Amino acid sequence: MKESKKFLYIINYPTFEEELCMLEMRSIFNTEPKDKVLISSIDFNPSFSTFIKSRLEIFHEKENFEDILKELDKDVIKLDDFKLEFIKPLKADVPFSERFGYLSEIGDKILGVPDIKSPKLVLGLGKHNEKWVFGIHEKNDNLWSTHEKKPCSYSNSLSVRVAKSVVNLAANGNHNTKIIDPCCGVGTTIVEGLSMGYDIWGTEISEKNTNNAKRNLNFFNLEPRVKHQDMHTIKENYDSSIVDIPYGLFSHITKDQQQDIINTARRISKKMILITFEDLDYMVEKSGFKIVDRCAVTKGSFKRYILVCE
Ligand SMILES: C[S@@+](CC[C@H](N)C(=O)[O-])C[C@H]1O[C@@H](n2cnc3c(N)ncnc32)[C@H](O)[C@@H]1O
Repeated sequence: MKESKKFLYIINYPTFEEELCMLEMRSIFNTEPKDKVLISSIDFNPSFSTFIKSRLEIFHEKENFEDILKELDKDVIKLDDFKLEFIKPLKADVPFSERFGYLSEIGDKILGVPDIKSPKLVLGLGKHNEKWVFGIHEKNDNLWSTHEKKPCSYSNSLSVRVAKSVVNLAANGNHNTKIIDPCCGVGTTIVEGLSMGYDIWGTEISEKNTNNAKRNLNFFNLEPRVKHQDMHTIKENYDSSIVDIPYGLFSHITKDQQQDIINTARRISKKMILITFEDLDYMVEKSGFKIVDRCAVTKGSFKRYILVCE
């Protein structure tokens, strides 16, 4: 089968997370989606972002459908247990009555036996910007949504969606990044990071939260990478830290303690993703970090700021 280095990502998001989605896409792909479609040569697992609904690895991209068929004659696909489908958001330009015809013409070119019920591979066809696109179509497996029900939660925990996103921001999608969540609470980011194969650790000053984080990790069969430790005693250095800063509404914390947390993040990591409920830009600047990108996530009366600092 033809090797390809061009991917088409189908993106979607709830309105209140639009800014977060754009920030995450800039961080992973250095670009933003246009009309909820993002084209990139970067190969990113679609199940690693809550915003990527599916990914098409483009084998052929042609103005005319017949030219796709010609390519399939030249470069014959031999494949069993496959399924052929129209890519949902990319079928609007193709009348419903014609869709089956296009799919069966493609199907005739593939050497092998299809399996519609439990295919090993799904091939997708669609039309984007007046061009036909065809390739391997992989949907988000949505397994991350099973993490929404954890044995131990915390009033101030991040949502699974935000946790997954901040891990991607911390790593820019690069799995060689060494990440620390020094105030990890019940381990929400650690669960997401480890499930995506990232090298992530957590520390937590509260013994109860540390134990609860370990229970959560154990529940999902993940390594218990959480230490009961005051972050200010951390000796190791990390590429990135994720700091969901304790906030006065939920814990007794002074401005000086918040500044100390940001200062320590600066000491132990080259980059920091800061999650706050209030404007702490002045503290970031005081620590020596520079804010290089940012977004706000607003839900009801809650507004969270997410800052990328280097
Ligand atoms: C906003 S909560 C983090 C919640 C977490 N993101 C989650 O989803 O569960 C902040 C956490 O920082 C912890 N913390 C405060 N000061 C700390 C310190 N010096 N070292 C380590 N953890 C600390 C608190 O006990 C609290 O669990």
